[in-house]
Amino acid sequence: MSSALSTASRGKGHVLVTGGAGYIGSHTCVQLLDAGYDVTVLDNLVNSKVESLKRVGELTGKADRLAFREVDLRDAAALKAVVAALPACDACIHFAGLKAVGESTKLPLEYYENNVGGTLALLSAMRAAGIKNIVFSSSATVYGAAESPITEATPTGAGITNAYGRSKYVIEEILGDFARSPEGADWSIAVLRYFNPVGAHPSGRIGEDPSGPPNNLMPYVSQVAVGRRPHLSVFGDDYPTPDGTGVRDYIHVQDLARGHLSALAMIEASDPALRVFNLGTGVGYSVLDMVKAMEKAAGKPIPYEVGPRRPGDVATVYADTAKAKDELGWVAELGLDDMCRDLWAWQSANPMGYEDAKAEL
Ligand code: NAD
Ligand code: WQD
Repeated sequence: MSSALSTASRGKGHVLVTGGAGYIGSHTCVQLLDAGYDVTVLDNLVNSKVESLKRVGELTGKADRLAFREVDLRDAAALKAVVAALPACDACIHFAGLKAVGESTKLPLEYYENNVGGTLALLSAMRAAGIKNIVFSSSATVYGAAESPITEATPTGAGITNAYGRSKYVIEEILGDFARSPEGADWSIAVLRYFNPVGAHPSGRIGEDPSGPPNNLMPYVSQVAVGRRPHLSVFGDDYPTPDGTGVRDYIHVQDLARGHLSALAMIEASDPALRVFNLGTGVGYSVLDMVKAMEKAAGKPIPYEVGPRRPGDVATVYADTAKAKDELGWVAELGLDDMCRDLWAWQSANPMGYEDAKAEL
């Protein structure tokens, strides 16, 4: 890995990946490099470690095709300079942003500044550099409390309960306004609404590494399984679902990463437009289904206690996946056992996440 690629793109093309050191970004970088793309990652490491990219280089054997620049998207001048100096770049995959729902209710301005402000600075830097293709990480959270299955035509915006979710909604609206403008009509914009990403690369070398107590279910479950936390709190068992616990559409991060390559291929093959896709499996599992599956993968019981509902949670969320299948040619291929097996491979080999890298030195 270097600070800049040594030559202009030799392979399939050169992709700029913001937030590429993070959870979903690092898995996507592996697949981009494996597919023959050159990759430049921009990240300020606020929620990640450069160790993830070192491992991306090792896993792919293509560290020479992977460049990293530490930059904060909010620093518009620095960002513009970095993007302008890149070798010819075909597209940007924009993962960078803050994502903790609870934190966003305490720090709404920071969330809007980072997510909305960072995206505006990025679009401006891309415009100056003549890059007109972008894949944006959105979230099923933009659907608020909509009934499942959720299609891309389901209205967005209403019922969002936190600043994180609303920041994604606002970015989508900005992208929509831009796409409808004369200048934006020339751009290809893919908005990918992820459902619940889980799992890790099957090697167990890269995975999700939350700082502090995890906010999301599966990182919490896997930290209980590895002995870092005594038990899981199940947030309510009185929902109108088969076992009373919340139902979600968990998607393997490897499938999700592949969805980004499908989006790039679609952009390459299609006329400029803004297109929106759900990336989910279309299948819902309950909290207790997930606990049972992880117990099987880890080969040990996972203690849990049922507590009150978490404010803002809804009973059931799962995707309608037909549009991604028809227009992207993408379907999720991995199931619950794959998700838990690979999550356990990562968590058991790296009980403290990338902190364990120090022990390897
Ligand atoms: P992550 O926190 O692991 O990755 C985000 C990366 O962006 C981190 O490496 C962080 O350091 C970087 N970053 C944050 N602010 C930055 C800034 N101002 N400048 C430069 N870099 C910055 O999160 P993730 O789970 O990989 O999520 C990636 C994207 O997908 C995010 O936009 C997130 O909102 C979205 N998303 C995530 C989930 C999920 O459950 N993980 C679900 C739906 C959508
Ligand atoms: C899943 C289920 C909880 C933790 C969030 C964001 C969403 C998106 C994905 C970014 C729910 C239950 C959880 C725990 C539990 N992120 N749970 N005990 O809430 O569906 O979505 O992450 O875009 O925007 O809102 O995911 O993993 O937090 O919860 O019982 O310790 O697990 O109540 O039913 P969620 P989650």
